Amino acid sequence: MKTILNVGLIGCGNISDSYLSLAPQFCGFKIVACADLNAELAAAKAQKYGIESRSVDALLASEDIDIVVNLTIPAAHCAVSMQALEAGKHVYSEKPLVLSLEEGQKMKALSLKKGLKVGSAPDTFMGGSHQFARHLLDRGEIGEVYSGTCYVMSAGMESWHPNPDFFFKAGGGPILDLGPYYIANLIQLLGPVESVMAKTSIPRKQRKITSQPRSGEMIEVETPTTIHAILTFQNGAVITLGASWDVQAHQHSHMELYGSKGSMYLPDPNFFGGKVSLIQEGRETPVTMWNHPFGTPNQIHGELAKANYRTAGLAEMVMAIHMGRDHMCSLDRALHGVEVMTAILASGESGQTINMTTHCDRPRALDPEAAKALLAACF
Ligand SMILES: NC(=O)c1ccc[n+]([C@@H]2O[C@H](COP(=O)([O-])OP(=O)(O)OC[C@H]3O[C@@H](n4cnc5c(N)ncnc54)[C@H](O)[C@@H]3O)[C@@H](O)[C@H]2O)c1
Repeated sequence: MKTILNVGLIGCGNISDSYLSLAPQFCGFKIVACADLNAELAAAKAQKYGIESRSVDALLASEDIDIVVNLTIPAAHCAVSMQALEAGKHVYSEKPLVLSLEEGQKMKALSLKKGLKVGSAPDTFMGGSHQFARHLLDRGEIGEVYSGTCYVMSAGMESWHPNPDFFFKAGGGPILDLGPYYIANLIQLLGPVESVMAKTSIPRKQRKITSQPRSGEMIEVETPTTIHAILTFQNGAVITLGASWDVQAHQHSHMELYGSKGSMYLPDPNFFGGKVSLIQEGRETPVTMWNHPFGTPNQIHGELAKANYRTAGLAEMVMAIHMGRDHMCSLDRALHGVEVMTAILASGESGQTINMTTHCDRPRALDPEAAKALLAACF
């Protein structure tokens, strides 16, 4: 097998800059080409990053491409990933992997038949802070986790994204768009989910775009934008998840876990770093955060320095391909996450508690040394 695998990227929109700019710091793969339905966009990205632009069909047919990274909109994820598998390529997809359990099961069957790997973002749970939180949890610092809360709530996406339509269509909404970060982190911390129940609503049926260049255009909202769910994990933990794009302001923290011996407050799982607080015997226990390569701030967002190591999941999948082992951002874990999220929406419609049918285990932990191996010249 080649030591460096060639990556072709399909979908050259907003998030592609993160992949194209962050990829060079990881070892084991190289992004060599990109494609988009919008050929001009692909050509512009190719020129900016010194790679080739190809048509989507040409990229899929290219013998020099080993892995397709799928950065298209959610509604196109399944079709593009299935085409890539049919063409004999491993796939790494942006979230959500697919929009339904059925799509995911077909993808799993095809990947097994072809002997190819499928991976999916989010990989933010590989971040230094989330891995440190896991380390504290696994060391028993808060004991058995009984319950917790997750809140991802804002006024919406139409104020910043240049093409915000997809956020308000099937496959979007705060649960499928931002839920993956929270669900993936909960799975790495607590394991698989047993059942979900939820209440959902669409308070505003139309949203006005205020970002450029389409300011003033209206979007018809086709998926719930306010969701309150309760997730029961197989380990017994009961977690409240609030996800909304109808909230002007709030004071909830991103993620809190409550255990038999203490509590833990975790940072935003949409990023790799941030403060982890451990509360024992009613007061904060000082903890020394790990010097973890995926926890160090490397970008400015607004006025804040944040850690963003997107593509770490792709790098880890490449290493897993070489080593013939399971990868952290695996299809099974992403598919379990999709089942959780789609069941939350279905429960909102039916009012019923829904039991999960898929299962996954926790991904392996990624301590600072294991993370460094993804960055160093390791092959
Ligand atoms: N924008 C972000 O900050 C962000 C962050 C994390 C993850 N994501 C995820 O990344 C994905 C892409 O988001 P984005 O913000 O870049 O969207 P975008 O709309 O800016 O870009 C998507 C691109 O995909 C192309 N495309 C759509 N269907 C295609 C197809 N069938 N074949 C080839 N190209 C196709 C479009 O022409 C467009 O250029 C989404 O799944 C999103 O959830 C986005």
